[in-house]
Amino acid sequence: KRHLISATDLSHDDAVLILDTAEEMGRIADRPIKKLPTLRGRTVVNLFFEDSTRTRISFEAAAKRLSADVINFSAKGSSVSKGESLKDTALTLQAMGADAVVIRHHDSGAPHRLATSGWIGGSVVNAGDGTHEHPTQALLDAYTIRRRLAASGAACTDLAGRRITIVGDILHSRVARSNVQLLHTLGAEVTVVAPPTLVPIGVEHWPCAVSYDLDAVLPKSDAVMMLRVQRERMNAAYFPTEREYARRYGLDGDRMGRMPGHAVVMHPGPMNRGMEITAEVADSPRCTAVEQVTNGVSVRMAVLYLLLGGAEPAATKETHE
Ligand code: CP
Repeated sequence: KRHLISATDLSHDDAVLILDTAEEMGRIADRPIKKLPTLRGRTVVNLFFEDSTRTRISFEAAAKRLSADVINFSAKGSSVSKGESLKDTALTLQAMGADAVVIRHHDSGAPHRLATSGWIGGSVVNAGDGTHEHPTQALLDAYTIRRRLAASGAACTDLAGRRITIVGDILHSRVARSNVQLLHTLGAEVTVVAPPTLVPIGVEHWPCAVSYDLDAVLPKSDAVMMLRVQRERMNAAYFPTEREYARRYGLDGDRMGRMPGHAVVMHPGPMNRGMEITAEVADSPRCTAVEQVTNGVSVRMAVLYLLLGGAEPAATKETHE
């Protein structure tokens, strides 16, 4: 495969290969020299039109650990603020010989447009587009669940039969969309839980169950993924009061106590502490939020390695064409 735009791009075997490759990459982090020469001479561009902490930094760390050159592009402070289009921005990056473009964009579909336009010769990786998808987040979440299961003694290549609950602002969540697809591909039974106003139209076509009752679902969950309430994408009419939301859909210590003893709490970050998750839960050893960030580097190394490892570098490709 040349691009990673959606979790639906990945078959079961593709997803397991990425998780297995990420395990190998994770072992490098334990070495005194945390680098592989695999992508020496390749250029990875981080093209971020929307703010990011975890995704941008971890793609940069991943590319550098594979010895690629990294160009960080942020729309803020660039000619995008003078009105330059995605096309002209992409053509400028192509002129500099980008082997991979990691793009985050506020418009759903922008990575797909970039991958199919011919403006870019290299691979395109979706780092989050609007409310659409965030496939590497779903991969690192699946990787984190698989590692926790392995640590508790369960032998597993995928997540067959595991019960994963995704809670909160499903309507605006690209993390939820990618996770529902990927976790289903890996054999998990997924339930999304949200207030009725934050459940998207068409959810009945998603490969998951829908519930409005968090307390009923918690005792039957192997992992509970709390989502950030995305106030910046929200019309006030959609949203209950913060207090009401926290009371019905927030995860506090009492609710966490209703989860099975082995079950973990996940959060993709950034968190609204006190809204969807209390500080007590966020800082508990059952919460994998920080571990997810660490795992994100291994997973993004695996994605870049598998997309670019066998491909011809952009610089030599030009001379052949
Ligand atoms: N989880 C996630 O995508 O975080 P950032 O917005 O900080 O990249």
